[in-house]
Amino acid sequence: MKPAARRPLLLCALAAAAALSFLLVAPPPPLASLLLAFPASPYAGGPKLVFLLAGQSNMAGRGLAPSPLPPPFRPHPRVLRLAASRRWAVAAPPLHADIDTHKACGLGPAMPFAHRLLAGGAESSGLVLGLVPCAVGGTRIWMWAKGEPLYEAAVARARAALAAGGGTLGAVLWFQGESDTIELDDATAYGGRMERLVHDLRADLGIPDLLVIQVGLASGEGNYTDIVREAQKNIELPNVVLVDAMGLPLRDDQLHLSTEAQLRLGVESNDKYHHSLGIFYCRV
Ligand SMILES: *[C@@H]1O[C@H](CO)[C@@H](O)[C@H](O)[C@H]1NC(C)=O
Repeated sequence: MKPAARRPLLLCALAAAAALSFLLVAPPPPLASLLLAFPASPYAGGPKLVFLLAGQSNMAGRGLAPSPLPPPFRPHPRVLRLAASRRWAVAAPPLHADIDTHKACGLGPAMPFAHRLLAGGAESSGLVLGLVPCAVGGTRIWMWAKGEPLYEAAVARARAALAAGGGTLGAVLWFQGESDTIELDDATAYGGRMERLVHDLRADLGIPDLLVIQVGLASGEGNYTDIVREAQKNIELPNVVLVDAMGLPLRDDQLHLSTEAQLRLGVESNDKYHHSLGIFYCRV
């Protein structure tokens, strides 16, 4: 008999696999619901600056949505998202609703990131942003290894986003690792697995200097959060930068970032993005 401690892992893997079946086989939804859920955009066919959103629940977003929605989370005509059906639509939270399907998704960092990018000058340049949600709650980094369904789905979605003059990939926003703090083996393997992931993504997408903005963990599901955080800080690859979420306010579960935290994370990730590109950026 297997030790009882392994059973939640198996359940977690099964839940992730169930969520994935949607990523891999996305049947077109009925037209009526499509029109309601995915408002058409005149920018859908044009080039975009694309951002891949990957990781687990805090990237998918678990921040509660206040009413009215704070401006940084509201839809903007120049911010699109690639739906699970691989159609571009005006982005409206929850961005991962049709991707991370086994949990109630809320607010994540990507809308504030996009708003900040537009406010920083991209808007006047006429730039259109394309967000590509791929994150699934409860996933461990081994599930994101090349050959695993999550990895392959993310690469396929990135390629779909960039196909036929779809634009350029600006960065990967990566927020993951909370589930790798439970088992010591996972925590100690984290750094190597992350470096491998970055290497494989760059190779498969043909972008050797692809920027990866990883979020330093603010919380963990287990006792080895410090080990994973150290690994994140010590990634020795060019163009992999860290935005540290430690200290940002958490929800009552002490695991998920609050809406306020996600807003600050989105803004800080954007500042890091600008700094990484060497663009002079003025804090407001
Ligand atoms: C963390 O450590 C405490 C104290 O040793 C233990 O009771 C708890 O089960 C551990 N948590 C996990 C998720 O392993």
